[in-house]
Order: sequence, then C-alpha cells, then structure tokens
Amino acid sequence: MVSSANQLRIGVVLCTCGDTLNKKINFEQLKGLASSLPGVQEVIVTKDFCKSPEKQCESLKGRVDALIFGGCSERSSLQFNEERIEKLLARLSLNPALFETLNLREQCAYIHTDPEGINAKAKDMMLMAYEKLKTNSETLKVENVKQKALVIGGGVAGQRCAQGLADLGVDVTLVEEKPYLGGHPVRMPVLWQSESHPSVCTGDCVMPVVARDTLLRDRIEVLTNSQVVDIVKENGNFRVKIRKKAQKVDPEKCIGCGKCAQVCPVEVPNEFNLGKTTRKAIDKDFSLAMPDVYTIVDSACTKCGECVDVCPTQAIDLEAEDSYIEDTFGSVVLATGFSGYDMKVFEELNYKHPKVVTLLEFERHWANGFFGEKPKEVAFVLCRKDSVGYCSRLCCLATVKYAVRFSMFHPDVKVRVFHLSLRSCGRAFEEFRRNADSGGVEFLQADVKEVSQNGSGLRIKTDQGEYTADMVVLAEPLVPSQVRLTKILDVQTDPYGFPLEFQPRIINPLETHVERVFVIGGAKGFKDVQESIESALAASVRVYNALKGTEKKYFSVIDQEKCSKCGTCVSMCCPHGAISVKEDGVVEIDSALCKGCGLCYAACPSKAIRLTNLEDQQILRMVEVAFKHLPEGKPRILGFLCYWCSYGAGDLMGANGETVPENFRSIRIRCSASLSLDVVAEILSRDLADGILIAGCPRHSCHHIWGNFMQERRIEMLNESIALLGGTDKILRWEYIGVPDWKKLADVIREMNEKLTEIKGGSHVQA
Ligand code: FES
Repeated sequence: MVSSANQLRIGVVLCTCGDTLNKKINFEQLKGLASSLPGVQEVIVTKDFCKSPEKQCESLKGRVDALIFGGCSERSSLQFNEERIEKLLARLSLNPALFETLNLREQCAYIHTDPEGINAKAKDMMLMAYEKLKTNSETLKVENVKQKALVIGGGVAGQRCAQGLADLGVDVTLVEEKPYLGGHPVRMPVLWQSESHPSVCTGDCVMPVVARDTLLRDRIEVLTNSQVVDIVKENGNFRVKIRKKAQKVDPEKCIGCGKCAQVCPVEVPNEFNLGKTTRKAIDKDFSLAMPDVYTIVDSACTKCGECVDVCPTQAIDLEAEDSYIEDTFGSVVLATGFSGYDMKVFEELNYKHPKVVTLLEFERHWANGFFGEKPKEVAFVLCRKDSVGYCSRLCCLATVKYAVRFSMFHPDVKVRVFHLSLRSCGRAFEEFRRNADSGGVEFLQADVKEVSQNGSGLRIKTDQGEYTADMVVLAEPLVPSQVRLTKILDVQTDPYGFPLEFQPRIINPLETHVERVFVIGGAKGFKDVQESIESALAASVRVYNALKGTEKKYFSVIDQEKCSKCGTCVSMCCPHGAISVKEDGVVEIDSALCKGCGLCYAACPSKAIRLTNLEDQQILRMVEVAFKHLPEGKPRILGFLCYWCSYGAGDLMGANGETVPENFRSIRIRCSASLSLDVVAEILSRDLADGILIAGCPRHSCHHIWGNFMQERRIEMLNESIALLGGTDKILRWEYIGVPDWKKLADVIREMNEKLTEIKGGSHVQA
C-alpha cells in the first residue's frame, strides 16, 4: 500500500549537531521549507538529538505517522545509528518504512565550502527525503520463524551448538549420518587440549562425555544413521526431509548389554578400524560409541534371528525399514566437518601400498596397536597444499602432535617428519614443536619425491637424499565435505567449496549468505577441536537471535502477472537463495529470506519484481528535485552510492579534509547493482542530471557477492551503446569505492565536475 502525502502526518527533526552545522546551514530557512511541505505537522530544531531522541520526540508521539531526520549520517554516525533509529521508531510506534534522513552533516556541511551552494543543497536534500518518504510503503515483519533449529553433523561442533541452543531454550534436531556421535575426534586416540598449554586429552575420555550431554539434554532430538535428503525454503522457514535408516535396534529399548553381538554368527570388517578388525553383523563400531545402542550391518545380516531370541528387552526388529521424517526449521546449522583429500592422485606417494596411510588413518593404527605390526621407522610426510590451493593448517599441527606423542610412547621407534616449511601457529603448538625438536623426532626440510617398496619396507626419495621406513604417514590436505548441502541450500561457496561468510565477513564469521543458515567448526575451514567448539557456542547465540525474526524495509516482491518465467533472477542474480522456481515454472521470491539487495529487481527484464521502498519511480522522484535549488549553469552531478561501502566513503570525505563541489548530490542504494539501467537511461534522456556516478564496494567485497561486477559490466555496456548511438555530452561513470577510498571518491567527483564544466562551457565550480 502506497501512502499519500495528503494522508501522511509528517514530523521533521533537524539537528545542528551541537550548533556546528548551523554555522554553515541556515536552519531557519530549512525549517521554513520543511514546514511548507504538505503533511508536515511539526518541525523540531535541536542541537543534541542523539543524546535523548525519544525524549525530544515525545511531542510527536501519536501526532505523526512518518518522520524525517536531518543531521548526521545514519550510515556513519557514531551516536545516532540505525539501531538507535529502529528503537526510536518503535517507541513512536512508527512504521520503519516511514522514516527518511537527510545527511546534512557528513555529505553536506562537512564537504562543501560555499554557503550559497550548501544551503541550496540542504534544501534539495530535504525535498529528496520528502519525495521518497511520501511514496514509501510497507515493511515486512518476519514473525513466523519456526522456533526450531536443525544442526547437520554430530561432531563436537554440531553437538556443542545443539547444547548451546538447548540451553537458550531452543528445540533442536541434530542429524548425523553415522550410527554414532563425535565426528573425527572419536577416531583420535590423542586430542589436542588447549591453546594455552600443550597438554593432551584422549578421545575415549572426552567424547562420550560430550555425547552423553547431547543425548540426555532436554530439547535435543538426536537422529543418528540419518541423512538430510532435501531442504525446501518455505515462507522464511526450511522444510527438511530426513531419511532415517532402518532402526532395527530400538534405542528406547536397547540397554547395551551386548548379548546380541555375543550370539551373532556373522563377522564383518569393521570400517571404523579401516576394515582391519572385525565386528559382528549386530554390534557397536567401538565400545564407547554413543548412543550406546547396537547397530546392524544390513548387507551382512542373514536374519537368522539369534539376536532377537537373546535380547532381554525385545529391542530388535529385523524387518524394520527406512523411514522419512519431514519437519520445518527456522534455522539450519552446517556442522558437517571436513574430509581428507584423495591421496591416490599422488601416484609418487604410493598410497595404495598397505604401509602408506593417511594421518586420519594413522590414528586408528595407533589406537589399535598397529594391528599387531608395530613399525620400527615411521616417516610423516607433509605437504601437498599446492594441489588444493590452500594450507589446511591442521596437517602440520596434527603431524607434530602425533610424531611427538608417538615417539614419547614408543621411544624405540625412529620417527622422522619430512616437511617443506613447518607451520606451527599458536602459543601451545610452537612450544610443542620446540619440545619435539629436542625429543627424539627428526625434522627434515625436504621435498619427498617418491615413496616405493624397498624389500619388506619402504624407501623415501627426497631432494635431500634417501631414507627408509616401514610406515609412511601422509598428511592429507583437508577438503570441505558439505558440497551437496550447500548446493541444496543455495549457500555460496569460495573457490574451494567452503561456505562464504556474509559480508562484512570479518564480523559475521558464522553467517552464510542465506538468511538463518550458519556454518560452524571444520565445515567453514580448518579448526582443532577447541576452535570448533568456540565457533559452535558462538553460533548458538547467533541462531537464537536470528530465530526472533526481524522487520524489513527493503525486500523484493514479484508480480506473477508480469513475470515471463525467464529465470534471469534465479540463474544470474540472487546470491541469497531467496528465489526458487516451482515445478510449473512459477518463480517465487521468499521475501522473508530476501536480503533486499535489489539485484533481481534491477535485472528483471519484465519489470515483474519490485524492491520495496526503493523503486524506480521513487528514485526518479528524488532525482527530479535533487537540483531544484542549484543555480543555473552548474553541472548536476549525481552519485548513486552503495549502501555498504561507497556511501561510507562519502561520509568520510569531509572528516578527512576533502571538499567537493556543491553541485554533487548522492542517493544511497542497496547495492550498486540494485540500480536499474532503466532509471539511468531515463535520467539521461530526460536531462535530469549531467553526470552520473555509480559506485560499489571494492572488488570481491560486494555484500551481495557479484553485484558490483554485474553493475560494472552493465554500465560498460550502456556506455558502449551510447557511443554507438553517437555519444552524449553527459558522463556516466562506474567506480569501485570502498569506505577507505574517500579520497578517490572526492577526486572522481572533482574530476567529473571539471569535465562537465568544460563540456557545458559554464562557470567553473570551486571545490
Ligand atoms: Fe556494495 Fe554490492 S553491496 S556494490
């Protein structure tokens, strides 16, 4: 519903910022202009609005439906920022969409010097804010978020996240593909204990404690032997289908007595121990596996029924079948960990040899006394990072851990570590490595060229000479293991397959680009156990907050009547997985998951999508009044500055002593790519501006991943078309401008002004 200015009752607050802005801006004149605008009920002029906004607006409560604020930048103010504005609007019971600002401080008084030009600009800014406000419309209250979280992956990170959520009162379903909880650490005989001191813990001791806490805690439903097969986004929630492998031993009844395994006549290789030991067809993979429930290897079970007969609690049903569970969640946490790289590709390392193992496999060898064949010489081989393009970080640390501990427990075994450059980051690791130097482990900086059979042992050829060993341990690079799930969820990943964090990544380390989808532990990069748990516990708070829902001013809405089902918005645009195509070809935008970037809106060739509160017509209405008070003859320069970065640079120009001509006006847009070319073309064809600058985040830093690249290309194409049609006396310019690029932005504006002044042959505007 679009409001009409005649219906709207508007309040205006103008702040002089401690009587500093009124030295440059005539607030009386500005107040006069605001008061003359239809619908404006009251104009308050203050000097310290940020100190008590609610109190100073008290008189407006119940008397206005909309508010315009003129003063500091809502983007950059250190005192009156967007969060405080949100609170103020809630206090005044105002629709957040019915609020606009004019940035009188950072992008007017601070960056200009000519009093006449400053006042003309301040007035135009008032008109622009007013024009936009009166056509602002709805907000979206995302209130129906299902208060339940899905955690995928039952390793330590997944479990600790689930526990954290349960402690915060959130119901959680934890899905684990294996029959037991714990992830990699349950396979490790030795765990790294602490960042601050290089002590150790054993997996056997710690992991059952963590699993017990998970299994016995209220609010956590644990589904082991289960796999997420599909996730559909539905009205801001995630409808999830989970396949649960046939539960032939009822966990509610099984008391873990083991009688079934005693009588089972079938022995099968135990995959948990690399197939080098056996287990019964009904058994546990390892004695401390949690849940403490026996499981059946379907492919080996002959259904003889002996286990059924001896089970004291009638827990076994050999005819049980797979089942499917469907449930809806408000948030999804990816805790799927990492996998080891396939070492077979390095033929020179001879991984197919039974005595050449990976680091992850070595753990089981060690834990099982080397299956009766204890080596006399062990060689650890690092590193193959060039094959994956990154350092997996943990390989050096884990190698040092195993080499040192192993040599400590087995001083009779010769231990060598071949490395290219050993990386031991962190206090404890460095200390551990130093101790290792003096304790029986030989570190050799050498490039291993070949591992080959040498009699009954192995020969290691390096660029520094040849060595022997009877066991070679390859530290495999680590790779992401959740590729299938990131695809289902439309989570954008980096070139290596790890989920990209939502920008600014540095302060959103656990958020993906899809609303309420988080990634923790090894699934987002390489972490030791302690670091994984840190990220898990932090994520539980983030998930808890995300489940509260939100209110959105900017979001995309699709008009099905206009949609031609071309799919441009799906295939090229939405980086947040908020758009989907239904079976009948109908394109749907899940506004609750939409981040309001406007990429789809600007790209839709049918104009079937609108970005609420920043539509083409609204932008054009702002542009129509943007230069109303500018003296004749001066070039009109319009900057469309991206919400996140370029506008921030605009706010910093003045603070850093830069001044630009007063004929520059800016409009803050959601992403550089949210500006449609139709608007640009119309501004040019209707002669509403002389120069248009479109600025976006620096390369690889767009908050909507590829928005800036898309827009740069479009502007390039538009300029090419204009040139083909005979050129123009106007300037259409694209720039990448990050927050620290305030000088560049000022230079670009001044340069445009120079050129346009020349073109127009008009008077030169002094900066
Ligand atoms: Fe800045 Fe996309 S968010 S260019």
